[in-house]
Amino acid sequence: MTELQLSDVRKSYGGFEVIKGVDLDIKSGEFVVFVGPSGCGKSTLLRMIAGLEEITSGDLTIDDVLMNDVDPSKRGIAMVFQSYALYPHMTVRENMGFALRFAGVPKAEIEKRVGEAANILELGPLLDRKPKQLSGGQRQRVAIGRAIVRHPKIFLFDEPLSNLDAELRVHMRIEIARLHKQLAATIIYVTHDQVEAMTLADKIVVMRGGVVEQVGSPLDLYDDPANQFVAGFIGSPKMNFLKGVIEAGDGGECYARLPEYGGVKIPVGLKGAAPGTPVTIGIRPEHFKEEGSVSLDLTIDMLEHLGGETFAYARHGNGELVVIETKNGRGLKSGDRITARFDPACALVFDEGGKRLR
Ligand SMILES: Nc1ncnc2c1ncn2[C@@H]1O[C@H](COP(=O)(O)OP(=O)(O)OP(=O)(O)O)[C@@H](O)[C@H]1O
Ligand SMILES: [Mg+2]
Repeated sequence: MTELQLSDVRKSYGGFEVIKGVDLDIKSGEFVVFVGPSGCGKSTLLRMIAGLEEITSGDLTIDDVLMNDVDPSKRGIAMVFQSYALYPHMTVRENMGFALRFAGVPKAEIEKRVGEAANILELGPLLDRKPKQLSGGQRQRVAIGRAIVRHPKIFLFDEPLSNLDAELRVHMRIEIARLHKQLAATIIYVTHDQVEAMTLADKIVVMRGGVVEQVGSPLDLYDDPANQFVAGFIGSPKMNFLKGVIEAGDGGECYARLPEYGGVKIPVGLKGAAPGTPVTIGIRPEHFKEEGSVSLDLTIDMLEHLGGETFAYARHGNGELVVIETKNGRGLKSGDRITARFDPACALVFDEGGKRLR
């Protein structure tokens, strides 16, 4: 069932358009993550869904009902922000029940819902504390509790974990995944964190400059990006991009030659790419292996040993850096000369405008 639908949704501030026609379907129970560079419009889009920001044009429907002009409190939505300002003079219990009290919900019902939310979030023993007596993670859980007690159809999260330290983030990430399962809730979640996006999402929406670049499952976006922007945005360390040009072999086969990398040839099997077309070859760090028909001679500049794997930042004679992931990097050191190989089947090809060529 489609729960939420955006059709050609736009937003302008003054004459300046920041959301430039977004179409999106979100199904009931789905966990959808918005990612994209700073300023691309993630928060604006979320706030438009919540009703905190007017929609300049286009339609927002929830369960097939047009919501553009419906009051935020009547949309069945609850939002959790990065800065989860709790009321300092109220206890955890009072903070969680505040919106319900404000809405005139009977006292017994408030008690019941706060109790349920406290159970889910393991806040039971903390209900009578004030916010200043809580850790950052506990405060964040109270902010989520405030959303849960409202029994929303849809939860909106805008970078809810970015104020927490690394360990707490991991902990809260797991809590949010658990919450999603437990409540069978529809969640729309904005984050800058690659791991959060990849691990939490059923569906990732990649935005750039107010436009949706691609929508898909985390692994679809990783394995099969529609363009160079998505290929570069999803994955850390980033995909390597090498400049090349399409040429035709004697038998008519199509390959990309990399003039700046000693002229190596990469069979690419593209249909309809004209010889002479400038292209960019994309290859992920983990696709470099000891075996493979394409090879690059590189000198190691810097190493990152993560224990289980090593990232080698290696320079070609042309000055470009190539990032390689290896399981056998412990013996490597800066200045080592290596030959990095890959299977051309792993290479993606993009045209000058960044569009994927297939
Ligand atoms: N009230 C406003 N008036 C004018 N421009 C605004 C307003 N709010 C946001 N913008 C602009 O809209 C664009 C999108 O902003 P938005 O906050 O949605 O970005 P974001 O993707 O959430 O970025 P970040 O990752 O930094 O949070 C930006 O260019 C921003 O400057
Ligand atoms: Mg934002």
